[in-house]
Amino acid sequence: MNAPDPARLLLDAIIAFYNGPGRAGDSEARPMLDAVHADLMRATPAMPAPRTIAASTLLEAALPESAPGGAIAQAAPLFYWRQNPNYSAANMGATFMAGYGYVEFAGPKDALFHAPNIRVGLLVLGPGLHYPLHAHPAEEIYHPLTDGSSWRRGDEDWRIVPALHAIHHPSMIPHETKAPVSTLLSLYCWRGHTTTEARLIA
Ligand SMILES: [Fe+2]
Repeated sequence: MNAPDPARLLLDAIIAFYNGPGRAGDSEARPMLDAVHADLMRATPAMPAPRTIAASTLLEAALPESAPGGAIAQAAPLFYWRQNPNYSAANMGATFMAGYGYVEFAGPKDALFHAPNIRVGLLVLGPGLHYPLHAHPAEEIYHPLTDGSSWRRGDEDWRIVPALHAIHHPSMIPHETKAPVSTLLSLYCWRGHTTTEARLIA
């Protein structure tokens, strides 16, 4: 029998997450999560060659043991790490760029699995970093895997969000995030206009 494929096991763990704890509690996010789950079920292997960045070294120590942390750890050597091409040391600062990155589990480009209409991945934001106000056309839901990060959207106040709680960003709503004193790891999913990257709001 062949050894289990860590990428497939990861996708299965992410599907189970969006079918279980990821869909609990937040009625505002529910319709999108139902759609993301359905698209994940149809994703097909793509497997770009692995790529690391400075922030990818933060992953292992920050991952929780609870699901889907174990599946993420097992598949980590396969990850193609990325940064938003609209961000650079010039507009975000060198400290931010050294602690920020993401890997896409399913999506239209450079993801472990091809899914044309969604993006599902993991954001890493190093200790104390502030991801400043930005927006994008895609609808988005975050699920932090770690505790204590702060989130703000639109005209709302900052709120500290416990692990596994959904944070919903409708299309083009300005939003920002702060990591606590430890690394923030958060699942995210996008739906809608998935190929237009986020831009800072001046
Ligand atoms: Fe966003």
